[in-house]
Amino acid sequence: MRQKFVAGNWKMNLTLPEAQALTSEIVHMLHDELSGPKPQVVICPPFPLLMGVHRLLGDSGNPALGAQNFHQKESGAYTGEVSARQLHSVGCEYVILGHSERRQHFREDDALLAEKLRTALAAGLKPIFCVGESLETREADETFDFIGQQLANGLFHLSKEDFAKVVIAYEPIWAIGTGRTATSAQAQEVHAFIRQQVAAAYDQATADDTTILYGGSANAQNARELFSQPDVDGGLIGGASLKSRDFVEIVKSF
Ligand code: G3P
Repeated sequence: MRQKFVAGNWKMNLTLPEAQALTSEIVHMLHDELSGPKPQVVICPPFPLLMGVHRLLGDSGNPALGAQNFHQKESGAYTGEVSARQLHSVGCEYVILGHSERRQHFREDDALLAEKLRTALAAGLKPIFCVGESLETREADETFDFIGQQLANGLFHLSKEDFAKVVIAYEPIWAIGTGRTATSAQAQEVHAFIRQQVAAAYDQATADDTTILYGGSANAQNARELFSQPDVDGGLIGGASLKSRDFVEIVKSF
C-alpha cells in the first residue's frame, strides 16, 4: 500500500542508553507535534538495540521497528548471524535490504538479495529494498540501465502479492553520507522510472500502489522539496535520523 513513509537507518551508531533517549524524544515529539493522518515512521537500530528500542515505541505500529540486515537462511550453524524469524520475534515489522553499504562491503549481489527477500517475506517482515547508482554510473549516463537491472534481478521475481509488501528506496550512492543530496528533479526522474519499471513488470495498479523512498543526505532543510515530488513518497534517512529534532522535522515535511 502506497503511503507517506519515513524510515531512520541508524547504521552502526548509538549505545543502548543513547538509543533509548533518542527513541523517547522522537516518540514524544511525534505525539505532541503531529495531528491527523501520520506518515508511517520506522526506526531501524542495530541488532543489539532492537528490543530496548521496541519497548519504547508503544503498540500503535507507528513508529514501527525495523532491522538493517539478517542472514538469508532460516536458522542453523551460522555463528554471529541473526535470522529473519528472530527479528520478527522481537517486534521487527520491516527490514532494510540491498543497502549499497552491504552490497559494497559485504558483497551482497542480486542473487543473494533475491534469496533474502524470500526469507524476509516468509518470516512476515516487510522489506525496504534499496537501489542506487554510483557517481561513475551516473556520469556515464547509465543510471536507468543500472537501476533497471537491480530491480529486475533482485526484486521482480516476486509474485504480485509478495511485491505489494515491499517498499523501494532509491539511494544514489554518491549522495549517501556526503551532504550532496540529489536535486528534487533528479530524485523525481529516477522515482518515476522505478514506478514505470514496476508497471511493466506487474501492472499500473501495482505501480501506483508502491511506496518509493528517497535516501542520500536528506535532511530537515531539503525534505519538504524532495517529498513534494509526485513520485517521492518519503525518505530513508541516515545521519539526520540520529537527531530527534531533525528526524521529526523530516517526518513533518509532507
Ligand atoms: O539508508 C539511508 C542512508 O544510506 C542515507 O544516509 O546519512 O546520507 O542520510 P544519509
